[in-house]
Amino acid sequence: MELNQRRYLGLTLTLILGVLRMASLAQSDQLENQSCHPPSIIKEGWQTMYFQRQEEAKLPCMAVGEATLQYTWTKNGEELSAHPDWNSERMYMQSGVGTLVIAFPHQSDQGYYQCRVSNACGVSVSVVIKLIYAFQGQVSESSTPEVISAVAGQSAVLTCHPPRSVPASEVNWILTDPDHWPQSLLLDDRVTMDYSGNLYITSVRQEDEQHGEIYMCLIYNYFFRRSDLGEYKQIHVRSGGNSDAAIPTQLMWRSHTDIIALLGQEVKMKCIFSGNPLPNTTWEREDGQFDESRTSRSHHELVIWNAQANDSGTYQCSGQNTASASPVTSTFTVVVQSKPMWQNEPTDITAAPGESAEFDCSAVGEPAPTLQWFINGQPLHESPDDPRRTLNGNMLRFSSLTLGDSQVVQCNASNTHGYIWSDTYLFVQESAV
Ligand SMILES: *[C@@H]1O[C@H](CO)[C@@H](O)[C@H](O)[C@H]1NC(C)=O
Ligand SMILES: *[C@@H]1O[C@H](CO)[C@@H](O)[C@H](O)[C@H]1NC(C)=O
Ligand SMILES: *[C@@H]1O[C@H](CO)[C@@H](O)[C@H](O)[C@H]1NC(C)=O
Ligand SMILES: *[C@@H]1O[C@H](CO)[C@@H](O)[C@H](O)[C@H]1NC(C)=O
Repeated sequence: MELNQRRYLGLTLTLILGVLRMASLAQSDQLENQSCHPPSIIKEGWQTMYFQRQEEAKLPCMAVGEATLQYTWTKNGEELSAHPDWNSERMYMQSGVGTLVIAFPHQSDQGYYQCRVSNACGVSVSVVIKLIYAFQGQVSESSTPEVISAVAGQSAVLTCHPPRSVPASEVNWILTDPDHWPQSLLLDDRVTMDYSGNLYITSVRQEDEQHGEIYMCLIYNYFFRRSDLGEYKQIHVRSGGNSDAAIPTQLMWRSHTDIIALLGQEVKMKCIFSGNPLPNTTWEREDGQFDESRTSRSHHELVIWNAQANDSGTYQCSGQNTASASPVTSTFTVVVQSKPMWQNEPTDITAAPGESAEFDCSAVGEPAPTLQWFINGQPLHESPDDPRRTLNGNMLRFSSLTLGDSQVVQCNASNTHGYIWSDTYLFVQESAV
């Protein structure tokens, strides 16, 4: 009886162990022999995001895919789970999705963030999100306006010093006095601004005193949706000046002369000439014609919209008045380049065993983009060799697929102006007949 009982127990244990072993075998075979849908990120952040102090920053990451999805984040290439604040109320992942929440961000949270989502058959990887700390310096307040003493016919500059801010602020000039609403200062051929907000009066007239009203630069920041008043100025036109005195043309300011423009964007260049009488300004293209439908020439500025490759070339501004024998000129060189753009963007592929699959990652750009491939987030050259996988130019090909070949394929096309990122899966399953 005792013996039988022991035997019985032994048999039961063997059976249980056997079942367990079979179950675990079946589980590893499952990867080999059963289809598994790889993860796919469907929501991610912009490549550049701003955050401000003490205001929650959310970096979205959400994926679909089979079974339990495991989300992880890296900051500057390091696992964020190693961060001292990880999983605290300051920094955590939203449950159910992978969205990263930085509830009370510090300046030190700036960096490059990337989300990864994995399951049994692959890893989907998001773009790299550059998280930038946005701030606005204090505007130095002055109670009394600075008086600019100017001579009629001569030029005057009213400077504006917006505090350093990220992203940059915009400057406009307004006129105010205690009895009137501020109004914006009218800019024209004679009164204009440079690209950092300083105001140029190219040939001063009595009317620039504006009846003693105050010139103020208005500093506006789109990110903070905030306006600040900058320096106060008053113009005093000295008597005794002769507004008819001839003053030769002089170049007061010009924008950068070496311009790298991006395809489709706006190209701007500006020359501010002073002199009395007011110099005329002309714009020429030294090596070709202007495309008039995309060009505007105002007194000081040349603007080309929707830049095209054939806008690359040499441009010149020249200013002249009756007091100068020859024109004063300045030359600009424009080179139009472009960010990477897809020529063919890889797409998700579902295939049956025995078939083959091709991911085409063709991009154009100037300079020509460099391609980098990844398998489940691992650089291709670090992934184990597989004779059934071949890379040919922009094309990554998988042949003689088996059910175990489901995976996620990433491709990065980058140049000096940025990158485009593709994260697509290969899903191998028995064809549904
Ligand atoms: C898995 O597939 C291989 C070949 O495709 C086959 O030899 C093996 O028996 C399969 N295993 C299971 C558990 O189905
Ligand atoms: C793509 O490559 C560029 C250049 O190396 C890099 O700055 C960028 O972070 C890469 N993007 C991703 C998502 O890996
Ligand atoms: C410049 O290139 C654009 C786009 O290719 C084209 O539409 C335009 O006609 C070209 N302009 C000139 C002046 O060749
Ligand atoms: C600009 O002014 C100068 C001197 O008055 C004159 O000789 C020249 O023809 C003018 N140029 C244009 C384009 O008006």
